[in-house]
Amino acid sequence: MRTGVSIISAMRGPAPVMAGWGPGAEPSLGALLRTWRERTLLTQEQLAERAGLNVRTVRRLENSGLWQPRNRSILLLAKALELDDEERAMLVAVTRGQQPPADSDDPEGTGSPPALAAVPRQLPADVAALVGRERELAILESHQSANTVTVVSIDGMAGTGKTALAVHAAHRLAPRYPDGQLFVNLHGHAQSMTPIEPGEALARVLRTLGVPGEHLPGHVDDRAALYRSVLADRKVLIVLDDAADGLQIHPLLPAGSDCRVIVTSRRRFTCLGDTRSLSLETLTVADAVTLFTRMAGWERVTGTPVNVLTEVVRRCGLLPLGVRIAAARLRAHPTWSVRHLLDRLADDRLAELNAGRHSVTAALDLSYARLSAEQRRAYRVLGSHISADFGVDAAAALLNTTALQARRLLDQLSDTHLLQEPAPGRYRLHDLVRDHASAVHPRAG
Ligand SMILES: Nc1ncnc2c1ncn2[C@@H]1O[C@H](COP(=O)(O)OP(=O)(O)OP(=O)(O)O)[C@@H](O)[C@H]1O
Ligand SMILES: [Mg+2]
Repeated sequence: MRTGVSIISAMRGPAPVMAGWGPGAEPSLGALLRTWRERTLLTQEQLAERAGLNVRTVRRLENSGLWQPRNRSILLLAKALELDDEERAMLVAVTRGQQPPADSDDPEGTGSPPALAAVPRQLPADVAALVGRERELAILESHQSANTVTVVSIDGMAGTGKTALAVHAAHRLAPRYPDGQLFVNLHGHAQSMTPIEPGEALARVLRTLGVPGEHLPGHVDDRAALYRSVLADRKVLIVLDDAADGLQIHPLLPAGSDCRVIVTSRRRFTCLGDTRSLSLETLTVADAVTLFTRMAGWERVTGTPVNVLTEVVRRCGLLPLGVRIAAARLRAHPTWSVRHLLDRLADDRLAELNAGRHSVTAALDLSYARLSAEQRRAYRVLGSHISADFGVDAAAALLNTTALQARRLLDQLSDTHLLQEPAPGRYRLHDLVRDHASAVHPRAG
């Protein structure tokens, strides 16, 4: 029961087609690695450090289609690049077309085939250095239900660091869960993808836990029951990342008190029973400056007045995603000073906070795409007309509706973290959200 791992079938099948390469146009190993590295905003040095490899190994892999790596190096890179199962299978498949001779020179390699672990260890690579979040980590680690599964859910606006926090906590908690750690991306807010159906997610997880495909029940309830049975005697940590809502995750909750679940979502859950919920705020100014400095590099920041640094992170809305992108932009432009970056952020920060696959606008577009037509209209109207805190009556007047109806819409937007509620009945838009709301195309997403 414990030996089946979904990657086996993925490795046997044809390499999946990746965005940017058409069907039949097989990407080279170097091109794949470079694309995925740039996606994670890492330099070659940072990737090497994160993977525990020599930087020359990374350079040679990216630059030369001739040099061929050992499996262990590839698996380390897959982890460091935070590849999902499908991408990892693709990387392995492309590499397998180029296996080295037995005496090939690979200082990091062992020559053994990829290990298909009986115990799943699916956590993506940890954030190199998580900034702040001590209070949240303490809650994530200490909360413990006595008679049932321990569940902690982390909600917050796009890019606020929910996944980073969940993955970091999961790495710290992993030793307490010797039967494995599962990481399930539920794609609640993914580009060109609808959220994964619970039945599909259960099928994947059950296969990972060793249930052969032909033994998978057809009905979602039966799959959920089998999942609870399989996990009944195991100590497993499960991260359910990017849940669309509570309904999606409910079948994925085991029953036993030996398991722990960490859920992340942009939506605040109100429907889960014994769940501890954390709403993740943006960073403090000091933590945001620390994050910016680490990501940009000390050498690029030294000598910059503190008020300039502070203003840069404020212009990024103290949002980790924004701060990381701003730092990556600075790093990518060796001639820029921090002050120059600040000037650019002052012009059009949403345009500036865009680095290839990482973009604040794209992240907010995905939240917007999940709204109903009525919620979208309210979001756009509020973003275009309101710059300070406001109450229900002001919103009702702007939206040309009743106070009751306005309150309902405000609550819904607040549950998706597109609106903040700093005090009961008072609402405001985060700076970046307001910029987005006032500029978004009605049918974006
Ligand atoms: N506390 C932190 N310290 C260091 N880096 C962080 C921190 N929080 C977030 N980051 C980085 O900021 C970026 C955005 O974080 P993350 O992807 O976790 O956000 P998210 O809330 O899960 O976003 P989404 O709603 O889109 O899933 C990532 O590159 C992450 O590594
Ligand atoms: Mg996330």
